[in-house]
Amino acid sequence: MKIGPAPQDAPPEVRGVLLGVTQIAERVAALGKEISADYAGREVVLVTVLRGGLYFLSDLCRRVDDPVRLDFMAISSYGRAPHVGGGVRITKDLDEDLEGKDVLVVEDIIDTGLTLNYLLGVLKARRPASLAVAVLLDRGQRRIADVPIAYRGFEMPDIFAVGYGLDLHGRYRNLPYLGVLQDDVLKREGVPGV
Ligand code: PRP
Repeated sequence: MKIGPAPQDAPPEVRGVLLGVTQIAERVAALGKEISADYAGREVVLVTVLRGGLYFLSDLCRRVDDPVRLDFMAISSYGRAPHVGGGVRITKDLDEDLEGKDVLVVEDIIDTGLTLNYLLGVLKARRPASLAVAVLLDRGQRRIADVPIAYRGFEMPDIFAVGYGLDLHGRYRNLPYLGVLQDDVLKREGVPGV
């Protein structure tokens, strides 16, 4: 994954693009095909954690031929580390009962794996018929918890990126590509490691 030039209409804070619109769309379509073949007509409940996963979910579900239902969760983690120590709280739970259903968790990015690890534990306890994970971006260098990923869009280097669901303090999620911001913006906003 290399940093290409920013599109002409990009905001000035964007210095380059890691994944373009077409590249993302093609990979999402391929993942949709794989999922359709694997579930082969069975109904799948797609579960997403608000908010970043919405964009991938929205595109992916339109590439799956099997009947799908959508459901959403929100969790609050009080910063990063307390994931482990029980500092995770479900702030919005699912509406669906998952018992006996085929459940696919759809996430935009996996870093440490702690969010998914927690979530899979919670969902498993609800006795789904099957439970799997689809993630668009796998930033493996930051992994702490080993999480099984059935459908992976891209392996991503340890770079701070925004767009297609990824944000910087709530902004830039709606960029249709995966972009990188200017270093002075990252410094100003306190992004670590810049
Ligand atoms: C992102 C992403 C995952 C989590 C992955 O969410 O959507 O839920 O981080 O990180 P991990 O593997 O280190 O646990 P974020 O907390 O940024 O919230 P958002 O979806 O509202 O942007």
